[in-house]
Amino acid sequence: MVTFTLNGQEKTFDGDPDTPLLWVIRDAERLTGTKYGCGIAQCGACTVHLDGMTLRSCVTPISTVDGSSVTTIEGLEGPEAEAVQAAWRAIDVPQCGYCQSGQIMSAVSLLQFNPKPTDEDIDGAMTGNICRCATYVRIRQAIHDAADTLEG
Ligand code: FES
Ligand code: FES
Repeated sequence: MVTFTLNGQEKTFDGDPDTPLLWVIRDAERLTGTKYGCGIAQCGACTVHLDGMTLRSCVTPISTVDGSSVTTIEGLEGPEAEAVQAAWRAIDVPQCGYCQSGQIMSAVSLLQFNPKPTDEDIDGAMTGNICRCATYVRIRQAIHDAADTLEG
């Protein structure tokens, strides 16, 4: 039996302990904002936060999150999350949208650890999040805009 916190609520999972966290989130918990892209930790579509750090849920066995706190796009909150979501909306970052919850999870984590990232910092932090629509220029701009908002 695995016990963990998901978006602030205690959850248990008593299926196969090797089940990827992504499928527990999507199938058992019915939270479909976290996407399946590659399944091999190469695209970032499945990014969630584990105790505040980004994590590729597609390659994370549920057993490894026992006792931990998982946050998905549905449970994202706080000043960095609000600033990122507002910046994303203001300049219409998404195109098809498929990669975007993963992009936002990574962007929020970046700003939590680095409130004023440079272009290089952003490229480094976001490099694992692939966008097949190539929205990278807007993503970078939105992260700068969110950082400016947070700076006041
Ligand atoms: S689906 Fe997890 S990194 Fe691509
Ligand atoms: S917006 Fe389409 S994959 Fe990123």
